[in-house]
Amino acid sequence: MKRSPVTATPDGDTAVNASAPAGAAAAPTGAPFLALRRVNVFYGARQALADVSLSIDRVGITALVGPSGSGKTTLLTCVNRLTDLIPSCRVTGAIRCGDLDVLSPDTDVLRLRRRIGMIFQKPNPFPFSIRRNLACPLREHGVTDPRLIDARLESALRQVGLWDEVSDRLDTAALALSGGQQQRLCIARALMLSPDVLLMDEPCSALDPMSSGWVEDLITALRRQYTIVIVTHNLAQARRIADHAALFWVRDGVGRLIEHGPAAQLFDHPRHELTAAYINGVRG
Ligand SMILES: Nc1ncnc2c1ncn2[C@@H]1O[C@H](COP(=O)(O)OP(=O)(O)O)[C@@H](O)[C@H]1O
Ligand SMILES: [Mg+2]
Repeated sequence: MKRSPVTATPDGDTAVNASAPAGAAAAPTGAPFLALRRVNVFYGARQALADVSLSIDRVGITALVGPSGSGKTTLLTCVNRLTDLIPSCRVTGAIRCGDLDVLSPDTDVLRLRRRIGMIFQKPNPFPFSIRRNLACPLREHGVTDPRLIDARLESALRQVGLWDEVSDRLDTAALALSGGQQQRLCIARALMLSPDVLLMDEPCSALDPMSSGWVEDLITALRRQYTIVIVTHNLAQARRIADHAALFWVRDGVGRLIEHGPAAQLFDHPRHELTAAYINGVRG
C-alpha cells in the first residue's frame, strides 16, 4: 500500500485525501524514523527520565517495558508533545520524527499530532456518535466534505475490523460500544489522519482477555504500515508482537533506558542483569 496522498487546503496546510485508504505506508529506509537523543524530562525539580537515546525504524513494533514509574508514559508523551500541557514539565535533548524536529518551539504541534497518533490505556471515545468521533480529527484539520469523511471513516473502520459490527449504527453513541470495540474505535480515530506513528500506552490492559486478544491482533496487523511504540506490562504480549523492545528502570529515583534491541535478543538473551531480572519476574 502506498502512502496516502495529501491535498492542499486554502490555508496552505495539507489535509488528508479521504478518498485514499486510511493508513500510511512507506518502504523501510533503514534509517531511524523516530530518533530520541539524550532526552531528559523533569516535572518541576524532579527528574523523571534521564538521558534517553533511542532509534526506532519506520515500520514495526517497539515495546517499552519496565516497572511502574520508570518513565514509559512520559517518554510517549514527549514524542507527541502532550508534555506541553503540563506546566511543570520540561524536556531537553532532541527528538526527530521523519523530517520534524519534535521539540523545536517552531514545530506546529497540530501538524505533529497529525503524524503521531496516541492510544491510551482506557478507551476514550468522545461522548458523541461513532460517526462524529471519527469525523472530529478530519474536521479539526479542515476537511468538511461529508462524502470524503464517510469514505475515510469506512476505510478506518475496516482497518480495525469494526465496519461489519457498527456500519448499521454509525449515528449511535460510541460509549454504548463494548470496551474492546471502543478501543478499536479509538485506534480507527487515530488512523483517520493517516499518521506515521502510533503511540500506545498499555492499550490492552483495561480490556477483558478476549477483547485484549482482538486488539493485540489488530496492532500486529498494523505493524507493517506504521511506526508503533507500545507500552505494555504484559511481557508475553511484548514477546509475541514486538520487533524491538526497550527496558526502562528507575535508578537513583530517575527513569532510565537500560537496554534496547531486537525483541528476541532482549527477551531470550538479555545483555543487562536488570533486563534478565525483569523478564524473570523480579520486581524493581
Ligand atoms: N504529570 C506529572 N507530574 C509530576 N510527576 C509526574 C507526572 N507524570 C509522571 N510523573 C512522574 O514521573 C515518573 C515517571 O512516570 P510515568 O512516565 O508515568 O512512568 P510509567 O509510565 O513507566 O509508569 C514517576 O515518578 C511519576 O510519578
Ligand atoms: Mg505509564
